[in-house]
Amino acid sequence: MLNENIAMVGDRTIPPKDARFISISIMGQEYKVPETLTIIKAMEYAGYQFKRGCGCRGGICGACGTFYRIQGDHNLYTGLACQTVVQPGMNLAQIPFFPANRADHVDLHLEKMPPDERIATLYPEIFKCVACGTCTRTCPMGIDVMNYIALFKRGDILEGAKQSFDCIMCGLCVVRCPANISQMKVAMAARRLAATQLVPRSKVTKDRAKLVREGRYEAMLAELGQMDTDKLKEIYVSREREPNLSEPGEWMPKDQSHL
Ligand code: SF4
Ligand code: SF4
Ligand code: FES
Repeated sequence: MLNENIAMVGDRTIPPKDARFISISIMGQEYKVPETLTIIKAMEYAGYQFKRGCGCRGGICGACGTFYRIQGDHNLYTGLACQTVVQPGMNLAQIPFFPANRADHVDLHLEKMPPDERIATLYPEIFKCVACGTCTRTCPMGIDVMNYIALFKRGDILEGAKQSFDCIMCGLCVVRCPANISQMKVAMAARRLAATQLVPRSKVTKDRAKLVREGRYEAMLAELGQMDTDKLKEIYVSREREPNLSEPGEWMPKDQSHL
């Protein structure tokens, strides 16, 4: 039943004037919601308030992994609640979080292992992958998850780290894997190992870190700390911004006094 007296929270949802309403079911209760809403907004429209388990609303943080079914269809579907638009007959049941195995990295004898051996030692379950492709089909970021797991099995940590780079840690692949592999945790470990051991150190970052350690930015930070909120907003809004998609080294701000 459409609840007309709902106090909206979060993003304010104003349905288009001629919006068509569709029926969906949330935790077994039927609601009529505008067909243009995402799952999160439809749930808010129905009166739910998200105090936990909902983050960026922009498909980046991975906090809103969701399971759903469609009436009359036996399949179980997955998606990000902030990106997936509701469908007629959608039946929603959200679980609070996606548990995943995270290996213990503290063991010191691992420190000297090359990255490929370390990944194989920390996450031996990757060799149980049956190449079913469920993880790849599930991933809302369009990552070929099965392929990066195959790369880790072959010991190509750097390429696997690159191919998993867009992972938002939503955990949807993990909960669908019949081999109990925590793909996102393996990939995170691989990216960390690749960054610390396999890619050359960035001279720019090194130089900047040196400047930070030497106190180059202390006075600027102190100055910012003295400003009131309105002034901070003003300088934030009027700041010079790097154009989208500019190549490295192509753009520099006109005012370089803060670099
Ligand atoms: S790889 Fe897994 S955890 Fe990462 S975004 Fe894709 S489904 Fe989510
Ligand atoms: S879901 Fe698991 S078993 Fe299937 S391809 Fe992905 S990692 Fe391998
Ligand atoms: S709320 Fe961040 S990905 Fe959906």
